[in-house]
Amino acid sequence: MNYLDTLLFGLYPYLAGSVFLIGSLLRFDHGQYTWKTGSSQLLSRRRLRLGSNLFHIGVLTIFFGHLVGLLTPHWVYAPFMAAGTKQLVAIVVGGVAGVLCLIGGAILLYRRFFDSRVRASSSVSDNLILSLLLVQVMLGLGTIGSAVHHLDGGVMLRLAEWAQSIVFFKGDAAAHLAGVGWIYRLHILLGLTIVLIFPFTRLVHVWSAPLGYLGRRYQIVRRRA
Ligand code: HEM
Repeated sequence: MNYLDTLLFGLYPYLAGSVFLIGSLLRFDHGQYTWKTGSSQLLSRRRLRLGSNLFHIGVLTIFFGHLVGLLTPHWVYAPFMAAGTKQLVAIVVGGVAGVLCLIGGAILLYRRFFDSRVRASSSVSDNLILSLLLVQVMLGLGTIGSAVHHLDGGVMLRLAEWAQSIVFFKGDAAAHLAGVGWIYRLHILLGLTIVLIFPFTRLVHVWSAPLGYLGRRYQIVRRRA
């Protein structure tokens, strides 16, 4: 394992994570009026519903899939599911969600660049984060091409070991990635970079997911007589 590996896959995750947490806290404290999704629905509804729904269904499935898939220790599911089976589930679920996210994201990006009103109100960071998310989804889908050549789940287990070493402070995380292909490494690095710049973009709205909606009482809406 060389110095660059340790820097990129052993130390960079902690830098990205620290900026993510401290940056989000500072922005919440100092920039309350900038803490929003930056909805553009009032400017143009065209393609927004389809694009945004596909994108969000895809991205939320991917987000929770990564969370559970990477951070669940192998011994938890080993008694009833072989590593290869888990990898197959990840490929199918991640593949479908990735395609939905890609189609939705492409619609949103098209709208952002070619709808004159939306373009005029977009910041550099709005365009940048959406573009980076799309490249990240493409890299994620690209890893499937590599994964189908080794369906025993071995690489997936190493990636999970790496993520658990980082999150649970086990140390020597980068060692788990020895021999893992470049597409996985690029996917990890871009993912960490998205985490790093998260507090400086509209992604802060993810912290404010309106979970209260799930349990709130109905609103009664009456037509005018
Ligand atoms: C339950 C969680 C979430 C909710 C309720 C939510 C809600 C929203 C809303 C209301 C918008 C504005 C759409 C518009 O009217 O223009 C938006 C935009 C956006 N969201 Fe989310 N979001 C969630 C999770 C996420 C996640 C996990 C990501 C990515 C990691 C994400 C990325 C984005 C992006 C990039 C946009 C801008 C799309 C564009 O360029 O038009 N969101 N979100």
